[in-house]
Amino acid sequence: MKEASPRTIYLKDYTPPAFDVEHIDLCFRLFEDGAEVVSELRLKRCDGGNGPLVLDGEELELRELSIDGRILASAEYSVDDESLTIPVVPEHFVLRCVTWINPQDNKRLEGLYKSSTMFCTQCEAEGFRRITYYLDRPDVMSVFRTRIEADKSLYPVLLSNGNPVEQGDLDGGRHFVTWEDPFRKPCYLFALVAGDLYVQEDSFMRASGNPVALKIYVDHKNSDKCDYALDALKRSMRWDEEVYGREYDLDIFMIVAVDDFNMGAMENKGLNIFNSSCVLAKPDATTDAAYQRIEAIVAHEYFHNWSGNRVTCRDWFQLSLKEGFTVYRDSQFSADMNSAGVKRIDDVNLLRTAQFAEDAGPMSHPVRPSSFMEISNFYTLTVYEKGAEVVRMYHTLLGDELFRQGCDVYFERFDGQAVTTDDFAACMAEVSGRDLCQFKRWYEQGGTPRVQVTSNYDAEKQQYILNFQQSCPPTPGQDQKQPFHIPIELGLLDAETGQPLPLEQAGGATTWVYELKDAIESLVFNGIAREPVPSLLRGFSAPVKLSYDYSDEQLVFLMRHDEDSFNRWDAGQRLALRVIQNLVSDALSGKELVVPEFFVETYRSVLKNASIDKAMLSKLLMLPAESYLIELADCADVDAIHAARKVVRKALAESMKEDLLAAYRENHLETDTVDLGFDAMSARALKNMLLALLMGAQDKTDALALAQKQFESAANMTDEIGALSAIVSSGDRAAGQAALDRFYKKWKDDAQVVELWFSVQSANSEFADLSHIKALMQHEAFQITNPNKVRSVIGAFCNQNLQGFHQQDGSGYEFLADRVIELDGMNPQIASRLLSPLTRWRKFDESRQSMMQAQLKRIFAQGNLSKDVREVVEKSLP
Ligand code: TRP
Ligand code: ZN
Repeated sequence: MKEASPRTIYLKDYTPPAFDVEHIDLCFRLFEDGAEVVSELRLKRCDGGNGPLVLDGEELELRELSIDGRILASAEYSVDDESLTIPVVPEHFVLRCVTWINPQDNKRLEGLYKSSTMFCTQCEAEGFRRITYYLDRPDVMSVFRTRIEADKSLYPVLLSNGNPVEQGDLDGGRHFVTWEDPFRKPCYLFALVAGDLYVQEDSFMRASGNPVALKIYVDHKNSDKCDYALDALKRSMRWDEEVYGREYDLDIFMIVAVDDFNMGAMENKGLNIFNSSCVLAKPDATTDAAYQRIEAIVAHEYFHNWSGNRVTCRDWFQLSLKEGFTVYRDSQFSADMNSAGVKRIDDVNLLRTAQFAEDAGPMSHPVRPSSFMEISNFYTLTVYEKGAEVVRMYHTLLGDELFRQGCDVYFERFDGQAVTTDDFAACMAEVSGRDLCQFKRWYEQGGTPRVQVTSNYDAEKQQYILNFQQSCPPTPGQDQKQPFHIPIELGLLDAETGQPLPLEQAGGATTWVYELKDAIESLVFNGIAREPVPSLLRGFSAPVKLSYDYSDEQLVFLMRHDEDSFNRWDAGQRLALRVIQNLVSDALSGKELVVPEFFVETYRSVLKNASIDKAMLSKLLMLPAESYLIELADCADVDAIHAARKVVRKALAESMKEDLLAAYRENHLETDTVDLGFDAMSARALKNMLLALLMGAQDKTDALALAQKQFESAANMTDEIGALSAIVSSGDRAAGQAALDRFYKKWKDDAQVVELWFSVQSANSEFADLSHIKALMQHEAFQITNPNKVRSVIGAFCNQNLQGFHQQDGSGYEFLADRVIELDGMNPQIASRLLSPLTRWRKFDESRQSMMQAQLKRIFAQGNLSKDVREVVEKSLP
C-alpha cells in the first residue's frame, strides 16, 4: 500500500506564532555514541489565546521535560514523529527539555551530524527540529546562548554563533566553551562546530573604525588553502560598506570548511559553514573558475548578514526575499571585481539553460511559491536566479540612486524583523513614488514570459514602429497569466553607418528602458530617416524569451555595431543557434550537413578583431550549449543536436585552423604560473577555449600534441585541467585514460582536485559511457555518502553528458532511478536534486518519454520514500 501524500503547506494559511521565545539557552554534550541536548526556552504566549504549545521535533529521543522546574508527567504532553504537544501551559514560563540525538548516524546532513571527525550543523531550512524541540519557523526569533562540552583532545575547537563568553576544563579530559549571540535570530541560523581544526586569522577594519576578527577553520591538511577566501571576505566586507552602506555587526566573523555538505555554503550568524569545495583554494590546485566561484560564494554568505540575517523571512514562501536579493548583490560584487560584461553573460547563460528549463517543467513555480510539501525542494534556480533578476529589474526601473534609497529604507525599517517580498516591494514603491502593483506579478506568476516583436517602417512619414506582444505559457496551477510589467532596454542603429540613433523618448540618449505592461503595445519612433536595426532587451533587462525576425545580415551587423556588449554577444548566439537548428532539421530530413560559409567568416572576423578583449572573445567564440538547444526545442532530438553542434565545431576548427593555432600560441605562456589578475585569467580562458575548439577538427593530431604539451608543463590548475579535458575529448581513449591516470596519481590526496577529475570525465560524452560511470563509482575515491562525489560523478553524467544519459535503450534513466532510490534512504535532499533530469521528459521523443516516465513510476512504487523525493516524483508524473 502507498502511504498518503505528504501534507501540502499553503502560503494563504500563514498565521503568526502563538508563542514568543524570549531567550534560548542550549547545552550540547558531545560523545562518540551520540549527543545530549539540554534546551531552556523562556516562552511567552503572544496570541492572546489558550491553545496548546506545539513544538517541532524529528528523530529526537525525549529524556526529560519540565516547566518552571517541575518535571512533567507523561500524561501532561504527547509526542509524535514530528512534534511535541503540551496542551496546558502558563502565560510566561521556562520550558526545559533534554533530548538525545545520534549525529554519528545522520547521513541526511541536516541538523547535527559528523563530517569525518568533526561535528557540524546545517539548520536551514528545517534542520533545527532534528536537534531539539522548538518553534522551527523563521518568524520566531530569539537570543541564543550555547554551551558546548566535548573531549578536549578530539575536539579542541568548539564554535557557535556570536562571541565566546566563557570556557574551561571539565573532568575526564573534557572541556567546554559558552557562546552568546546578542542578535535575535531564527533557529535556521543556529550553528555549532566541534573538531580538531586549523585556524587562520586576520582582521578587517570597519569604516566606523572598529576591527573585526576574521577566522577560517579548516582541516589541518588544508592549512595552505585559506588565503584566498580570507582575501575575498575582506573585499566583500569593504564592498558592502561602500556600495550598500552596510557594516558588519559582531566583533568576530568565522568560516568553517566541511567536506560533507548538501549545498554550497550557509550564512549562520557569525559562523558561516562552507562546503570545502566552495572555500578552499591554492594556486596550483584551483582553477580560475573555482576562484571566481569561491569569491562569489564567500561574498554571498557574507552579504546575507544583512539580506537574510538582520532582516529575515517571515515564512519559507518568502525565501527569495533573502536569496534573490543576495544573489543579485553577489552578482553586482562579482561584476565589480572582474568583468561586468562577462559576469552578465555567465548569469544569463545559467538562467536561459537551467532556470528556463525549470520554468517549463513539472516543478515550475513562481519566485514566491504559494505551496510546497518539502521546502528543501524550493531552493531552486527560480527562487535564486530568477529572484535575482526580479531585484535587478527594480534596479533598472528605479535607477541607481532610488534603488539604493529603497534598500536603505528596507534595511532600516525591518531591521530585526521577519518580513515578506511585499515589504521589500513597498520600500521600492515608496522611495520612487511608483505604482509597482503590476510588477509584483513577477513574484506571483510562474513560467517564462514570451515577448514577440515585429516592426514596420514608413518611409514617407519617417516613422518606425515596434509592435510588442507578450504572453506566458501555463504552468502547474496557473492556466491563465496576467501581463507582466517588463523593462525592455532598447536602441536603434542606423542600418548604413551602424551609428546609434538618438531617441526622443530618451531625451536624445541612444538607449532607453521601455516598460511593456499590456499584452499588446506599439512604440512609435519619429524622424527616422531610413529603416533602422533594432537592438532589443539590452543587457537582458528582463528574464523573458524575446523573439524578433532578424535576418542573418542584421545579426552580423549587431555583432559588429551594437553599443551594448551583451547584445553583441547575444546576436552571435542567435546566429549560431539558427545555424545549428537548421542543421538539426537538415539531419532529420536526411540532408547533407553544410555549415554556411558566412558563418565561418563571421567567426573568423570575431577572432581576428583586435579591439575585443580576451575575456569577451572567449564568450563570443563559445557555441550555445546542448542543454540550451534542448531547452529551446519543442521535441529535442539529443543525437541530432549533438551531431549538428559537432559539425559546426568541426567546420570552425578546420577552416580557421591556422588562425586558432596562432591565437593559441599568442595566449599561451610557457612560464605561466598563477597570476590571478584579470588579464592573465582572460588569456587562460581564451586559450583553453581555443584548444577545445581545435579539438573539434577531424584530424586532431596537432591539437592533441598541443594539449599533451600543455598538460605536461602546466603550472596552474586552469591549464592542467583545460589540457586534460581536451585530451579526454580527443577520441583517443588510450591517451585520455593515460592522462587521467597520471593526473589522479599526482592529485589523489586533494579532495577538491579529485572531484574535478571525476567531473571532467563523467561529463564528457566523447569519453564516458554508462559503464565508465559505474566503474568510477567503484573507485577508491568515490563515496556515495559524500554529496560532492555524487555530484561530480552521477550529477555530471546525468546533467552534462547528454549522449550518455539519454541512451536510446533507456539505460541512463534506469541508472539514475537506481541511484535516487539508493540515495533516498540516506540523504533525501541529494536524492531529490539528482532526480531533476528525469522530470524533464516532456522535452523528448515518445520513446524516451515513456522510458523516463517508467523510471519515475518505479521510484514512486518504492515504500518509504522521503517527502523530498515523493513531492518531485508525484508532481512530475503525467
Ligand atoms: N542559505 C544557503 C545559501 O546561502 C542555502 C543552503 C545551504 C541550504 N545549505 C542548505 C538550503 C541546506 C537548504 C538546505 O544560499
Ligand atoms: Zn543564499
